[in-house]
Amino acid sequence: MGRPPVFPFYLFILCTLFSPSPALAGPISVPSIPINFTASYLQFIDNSGAFLASENSSFQARITNSKPESRSLYFVIIHVASHTIVWSANRNRHISQSSQLRLTAQGLTLYNDSTHPIWSTPPNPTPVSSMHLLESGNLLLLDSTNNILWQSFDSPTDLLVSGQTLPAGKSLVASSGDDGELSQGSYRLVVGDDDAVLQWNGMVYWKLSMDENTFRDTSLPVDFLMFNATGLFLMGGNGQKIVMKRIIKGNSQGLAFAKLDYKGLLSVVSFDSIDRSSNQVMDGPSDRCQIPMICKKLDVCSSGGSCRCAPGFHNDPRMNNGDCIPTDTSLVFPDSCNNHTDFKYLSLRNELDYFSNDFTDPVIRGVNISLCQSLCSKNCSCLGVFFSQRFGSCYMITDYLGSMKSGSGDRVGYVKMVAVGVPNSDVKDKPGFPTIVAVLLPSSVVLAIAVVVLVCLRRRFSRSKQDDEEMDLVSIPGLPVRIDYAELAEATENFKNQIGSGGFGTVYKGTLLDGSEVAVKKITCLGSQGKREFLTEIAVIGKIHHVNLVRLRGFCAHGPQKLLVYEYMMRGSLDRTLFQGDTVLDWKERCEIALGAARGLAYLHSGCEHKIIHCDVKPENILLHHKSQVKISDFGLSKLLTPEQSGLFTTLRGTRGYLAPEWLTSSAITDKSDVYSYGMVLLEIIRGSKNSTTRSNSSAAALSPCPSTWDSAGQQRVYFPLLALEMHVEGNYLELVDPRLAGQVRSHEVEKMVRIALCCVHEDPNLRPTMTNVVGMLEGVVPLVEPRLKSLNFLRFYGRRFAESSTMSEGTQPNQLMLYRQPTSSTSSTASYNSFSYVSSQQVSGPR
Ligand SMILES: *[C@@H]1O[C@H](CO)[C@@H](O)[C@H](O)[C@H]1NC(C)=O
Ligand SMILES: *[C@@H]1O[C@H](CO)[C@@H](O)[C@H](O)[C@H]1NC(C)=O
Ligand SMILES: *[C@@H]1O[C@H](CO)[C@@H](O)[C@H](O)[C@H]1NC(C)=O
Ligand SMILES: *[C@@H]1O[C@H](CO)[C@@H](O)[C@H](O)[C@H]1NC(C)=O
Ligand SMILES: *[C@@H]1O[C@H](CO)[C@@H](O)[C@H](O)[C@H]1NC(C)=O
Ligand SMILES: *[C@@H]1O[C@H](CO)[C@@H](O)[C@H](O)[C@H]1NC(C)=O
Ligand SMILES: *[C@@H]1O[C@H](CO)[C@@H](O)[C@H](O)[C@H]1NC(C)=O
Repeated sequence: MGRPPVFPFYLFILCTLFSPSPALAGPISVPSIPINFTASYLQFIDNSGAFLASENSSFQARITNSKPESRSLYFVIIHVASHTIVWSANRNRHISQSSQLRLTAQGLTLYNDSTHPIWSTPPNPTPVSSMHLLESGNLLLLDSTNNILWQSFDSPTDLLVSGQTLPAGKSLVASSGDDGELSQGSYRLVVGDDDAVLQWNGMVYWKLSMDENTFRDTSLPVDFLMFNATGLFLMGGNGQKIVMKRIIKGNSQGLAFAKLDYKGLLSVVSFDSIDRSSNQVMDGPSDRCQIPMICKKLDVCSSGGSCRCAPGFHNDPRMNNGDCIPTDTSLVFPDSCNNHTDFKYLSLRNELDYFSNDFTDPVIRGVNISLCQSLCSKNCSCLGVFFSQRFGSCYMITDYLGSMKSGSGDRVGYVKMVAVGVPNSDVKDKPGFPTIVAVLLPSSVVLAIAVVVLVCLRRRFSRSKQDDEEMDLVSIPGLPVRIDYAELAEATENFKNQIGSGGFGTVYKGTLLDGSEVAVKKITCLGSQGKREFLTEIAVIGKIHHVNLVRLRGFCAHGPQKLLVYEYMMRGSLDRTLFQGDTVLDWKERCEIALGAARGLAYLHSGCEHKIIHCDVKPENILLHHKSQVKISDFGLSKLLTPEQSGLFTTLRGTRGYLAPEWLTSSAITDKSDVYSYGMVLLEIIRGSKNSTTRSNSSAAALSPCPSTWDSAGQQRVYFPLLALEMHVEGNYLELVDPRLAGQVRSHEVEKMVRIALCCVHEDPNLRPTMTNVVGMLEGVVPLVEPRLKSLNFLRFYGRRFAESSTMSEGTQPNQLMLYRQPTSSTSSTASYNSFSYVSSQQVSGPR
């Protein structure tokens, strides 16, 4: 298209706008325009179509096409340096080159030609006087007294600029495609009153609260979402309180955009105005396969990013837009069910799952598959079902069918079909129709699984036959990498370099073939559950990723041997650095460790799909890496030890000194039990030694009102939590800090930590804060809570008993202990609840 003859923009302004105006010198585009202004595309077609620019020209208002090759024109606000369209007026009705934009006392109106309005601002109570574009990217209509009558920030399209808010109930709507059309698509970011969620055709597929870096501070209802360069915040309490936050590590001074793109991905990009570079700092969902239409209908999304039709389906690129269609040509998707009574259900492999199953409840539970399918047959909008054999749960897919993803192996999907032409009598009841497991076509399998399969197949052919359970691996998706026993033996020089041992086994240092250092944990006291349960747990642990949680890199199941391969943490566990190290951890580092550990636990409790209670929080399970990286280890393992099948006992595991009182009573073990253990660890971090230690007479004399007991050797046992309580009551916090840090710490810093720790160890679990709240208090964004003395008095009793029981068992058992407790549902007399026994873990694990 040739460039039409256009006179310079400023002339245009002068002629049409200020004809009688005395001002001659004017900017090419101005930050504000008075009313009685008309502009047409042809007049703006210089290079950009801009007619209004913010003060420093960061943003411009333009009539332009969204992509150079597109002929669809839109009235937009654009961030010039990054070419980001931050808002558009007429996204659903693009305009032609004969269009006009008029600013009058009634507002702003876009006309397709001179008479047909296509878009306009809503009616205003007072006449509009001018239009302004701010440096923030916000377009304003003002009245003669500069009151804001309308602003573009109030009707966002698919993007938020830093500083912008999105009220509860409002949403961002993604564009429909990448072809330069801005029209609304089917993905939305919706702010609800307790979370911000991504939806596809109304179905949730991601929640802000699910993001591993999101923290909830309170449970107040959400008023609005606030976005700025430091993060996404859900604000409540009349916008004064942070309900939930997703902190973004980026340039907090700079500009950022949060955009929901046409693919359904919410990404935050921060823009550096100095080197003019954009940097993606957050995205959701981080697992792309969770996006409903990341591939086409009935395509299986693999983590590698490829899309292949589900088994039983194939695509012919020449037909149906390349959509997946049944391989069996006698079957078609039902178009309307009025005329059909007889449906066929095509089975998908059981490692496939559907995004909505994680976000919706089953339509019915405790039924069989035939009932589940018949419910679907009766419902015209039903397109298929997912059925969990284990729970008899029936999930219905209605209205829209998107792409498939790998699942937990729990649910099997069935796609509703009708037979056409000659009925194929074979199809109907053939279980798992084309899903014969034997020789897996790589094309039909998620890539990650295919790798496992190939490993297995290779094994099968290259070595003597392994047990048939090998094949089981195929159906447990999400498993971390499986590593050969021989490779691990080599990596650890035949398990030579032992770096630790704990309740679950011995840990060795090793170096994998790729040169990376790992910690290999040989699990010794495995519960009696089968290999499949073991693998299922491993798959759960393997999927948890958080900066403050040690990552499981792989595993090995070699006959009875089970090994877990973790990332290697250079500085080892906190107990070594804190209690035995030659170097003293300074206060700042201790605060970072406390915060990192709290964040890791908060994530286990509320960040991941299933709440995970650690059950064994202690310094040995807090690992350190260089640059003060802090990671929690051994999470998720307590489940491996639960002999659920026996049904008689719930075995619980914890470590003396960190166990919450409810372990000894009939009350439920919850995430608050971890909070208690964390509080105990926090006290040890403050003091730099074990909560219960032996002090010599002389040094103890310095601490006069010292809660302690004396043992026969004339040594004093100090129960530090009780000391902390008493010093808190006296307000004498500096007494509590590690003597090696004397003079380096200020009283109010210790006070904060002590108060948090005491709140964590309240006897009543309900009075303990959540880990998320602990994080908030440590960060200083949640006010400190006053410890309740009534719920702490138990320390006087428990402390003494603690000292006694540990004296009793000194030297005879490892630090670990196991408690057998009857399940709360048991109907036996309550007295038996309180009977518990200490059993050495060696005794327990021996015979297994
Ligand atoms: C805009 O036009 C209207 C009607 O033509 C006129 O009454 C009004 O004075 C004009 N306003 C300005 C600011 O030029
Ligand atoms: C525009 O830029 C100048 C100089 O960099 C700065 O002082 C001013 O604050 C900027 N204006 C706005 C609205 O950001
Ligand atoms: C705008 O006008 C053009 C030409 O007059 C016409 O072809 C087009 O369909 C119109 N578009 C809309 C959205 O009305
Ligand atoms: C971003 O918003 C949050 C919540 O309102 C606020 O605490 C924070 O200071 C803001 N950051 C910037 C850089 O404005
Ligand atoms: C289904 O029924 C409607 C009316 O009930 C009829 O118009 C249509 O042709 C039927 N379709 C088929 C495939 O039989
Ligand atoms: C499924 O359940 C229904 C109702 O509970 C029952 O009538 C039917 O026989 C069951 N079908 C099978 C195959 O078990
Ligand atoms: C079909 O099932 C969906 C999901 O359970 C339900 O919302 C809808 O009302 C059902 N439609 C009919 C016609 O039963």
